[in-house]
Amino acid sequence: MAHPLKSTKAHSLTGHVRVPGDKSISHRALILGALSSGQTKITGLLESDDVLATANALQNLGAVITKMDDCYNVTGCGTGGLCPSSPDISVALDFGNSGTGSRLMMGVVAGHDICAQFQGDDSLSRRPMGRVLKPLKRMGLNISETDKDTFPLTLKGNSDLIPITYELPVASAQVKSAVLLAGLMTEGQTCVIEPARTRDHTERMLAYFGAKLDIISRDHGRMITLHGPAELHGKDIVVPSDPSSAAFLTAAALLCPDSDITVKGVLINPTRFGFYQTLLEMGAHIELENERMEGGEPVADLRVMSSRLHGVDVPAERAPSMIDEYPCLAVVAAFATGETKMHGLSELRVKECDRLSVTAAGLQACGIPHLIKGDDLYVQGQDQVRGGAVIHTELDHRIAMSFLVLGLATEEPITVDDITMIATSFPQFIDLIQSLGARFEESKT
Ligand code: S3P
Repeated sequence: MAHPLKSTKAHSLTGHVRVPGDKSISHRALILGALSSGQTKITGLLESDDVLATANALQNLGAVITKMDDCYNVTGCGTGGLCPSSPDISVALDFGNSGTGSRLMMGVVAGHDICAQFQGDDSLSRRPMGRVLKPLKRMGLNISETDKDTFPLTLKGNSDLIPITYELPVASAQVKSAVLLAGLMTEGQTCVIEPARTRDHTERMLAYFGAKLDIISRDHGRMITLHGPAELHGKDIVVPSDPSSAAFLTAAALLCPDSDITVKGVLINPTRFGFYQTLLEMGAHIELENERMEGGEPVADLRVMSSRLHGVDVPAERAPSMIDEYPCLAVVAAFATGETKMHGLSELRVKECDRLSVTAAGLQACGIPHLIKGDDLYVQGQDQVRGGAVIHTELDHRIAMSFLVLGLATEEPITVDDITMIATSFPQFIDLIQSLGARFEESKT
């Protein structure tokens, strides 16, 4: 059942908060824990629907995952050691809304003698899986359905996978990670060449768990070589706060007058920092305090104050480092002086929904001048934004959160048609932002 919510103008947002653990790192911590020998203890795991679907899939494949207090304990099966309780029949793995969980797990299943049916919700079942299947097929994965590349799909893994060299046609951390995870279970070198640098949590964590990797910078991207078969050893992991979730609170504080908030322990890995870099270029008052390393990743407390912003050009090369933040940036850009030009957004079309079109439709409904030109989005900022619309979120958590944030600063309230999908990445969003002073009301749309 859809749960609509109305967002109304907020005066100021103040206070200190911590957003939940990073989604990308949470998926990977569970997966590498399950592929290791021994125990992996994860503190700060994001307990969202997407991540719990990955945990569930790993449990269906034989990993033991338990929770004690705030800590998840994964008893790994060793590299190549996953095995479902009935190995002779196909095991159903339901990933809900999660592109990351499902694509990473395709790489994992590829290297095991396991037959698994991959399935998900309506949004996930529309997303292209060919980009992951293509390299995995070259390595030896079999797919029962030969004529389609969308879920449901039945994959037959193979413990004799062949290592490959694969040049990614699109900058995708999910595809890179799926190939590297499959490479763990091969005899030899698996090499992935990325055209632009994408989030590097898989590489960082693989090295931390004991895999041998060589990484060479090439043009804008990198060449990553993994030496298989790899032996991974269970580790302790502290998951830093998710910068993609912190983005919504940051945007809200920038737009609401007299705001001053601090979001604690946020991941500031350069491959995830594009949104904040762009905001700083727009004149945002954001301070990085207490910069430090936590669990092998750089983190900082982000202090954000209301700011008068100006439009900027966001280059296409920056897209991988802020790919999930464009709907939120579009909302911020609506209040900047002048135009904000976001270039190279083709990948937005294959996210939880076509985020380029759905963001543009939301801007249109709220009276914000904008233009889609090829794969670019131009947003013309205004002093006052009308709002007063119902936003169709199309099963997309980030569309829902972005437009709820917009409604905190528009003249008329904004209603999003359904907030249930927010639980896929940031279940505490409504409570946390209300604790800072935001106002939402129940609505019948
Ligand atoms: C993710 C990679 C990104 C991002 C997604 C999480 C990951 O997707 O959009 O939310 O954890 O690897 P692509 O790698 O497909 O761009």
